[in-house]
Amino acid sequence: METFSSIDAMRAWCREKSISGKTIGLVPTMGALHEGHLSLVHAAKNSCDHCVTSIFVNPTQFAANEDLDQYPRPIEDDLAMLRHAGVEAVFMPTADEMYPGGAERHATSVHPSAVALPLEGVHRPEHFAGVATVVMKLFQAAPSDRAFFGRKDFQQLCVIEHMVRDLNLPIEIVPCDIVREPDGLAMSSRNRYLSDNERQRALCISKSLNLVERAFLDGSRDPKQLESIMGDHLSPCDRVDYAVVVDRQTLLPVPKITRNAVALVAARLGATRLIDNRELETG
Ligand code: PAJ
Repeated sequence: METFSSIDAMRAWCREKSISGKTIGLVPTMGALHEGHLSLVHAAKNSCDHCVTSIFVNPTQFAANEDLDQYPRPIEDDLAMLRHAGVEAVFMPTADEMYPGGAERHATSVHPSAVALPLEGVHRPEHFAGVATVVMKLFQAAPSDRAFFGRKDFQQLCVIEHMVRDLNLPIEIVPCDIVREPDGLAMSSRNRYLSDNERQRALCISKSLNLVERAFLDGSRDPKQLESIMGDHLSPCDRVDYAVVVDRQTLLPVPKITRNAVALVAARLGATRLIDNRELETG
């Protein structure tokens, strides 16, 4: 497994593989890897000749009050997991390589589509501009045929899909299913912040989504009714930022579900903010 910290060297590696007719799958991450990340790696390896994984804790997607400094960086463990998974190349640039002169002085950025505005956009206003910009930069540093993103970060996936469509980027976005712990908790790098008590209480998030799905499958098409089911079961959380059922395409509220929808939750356990979702398909 090769590791690259320089954009030029990473790009040259990708170019060499492409010229020799090989396809490349890119898995962008911020490290602190778990089985959710590895499922993207496996999907990339299944459909492409080579897998490149990036590890970069992107400062521009964290607000000043968020966990940029505490974000876990177990780099040796991450590299061992990627080596074991058969990844051929890891891109791990420094912040200075990605943002010479400092992230705050970085001028050009991607303005994401309106799908970035609700939900996370309300609670983390600069977040998706930071995500879209760094993903655009990662696509330039490691030009690939396909890029793999988890449905766990559902709104992020929508933002990236819109960016690729709107800017005609020559890359295919491949969405990958949410990987969960055996008890249902969606895997997340931030789960390691949870105390035992918080970890136990966090289970109400996936349980509330199970109940919404069951009500939906039983025929309920009223978002307000589905949201109240979720609300009723999220009381073990310390704060609920949102628990909504919205249109799958626009992520906006609808009076009645007539096409695919998605239930999304963002909630806090202590100081840790977790997100999860469940897609509701009308078939
Ligand atoms: P990070 O949180 O490290 O996640 C990297 C990728 O792994 C994302 O596509 C995310 O959706 C996916 N992922 C995380 N948990 C998952 C789970 N339980 N099941 C399936 N996929 C999961 O998302 C980011 O990093 C950053 O915003 C990034 C896109 C790298 C830009 O900085």
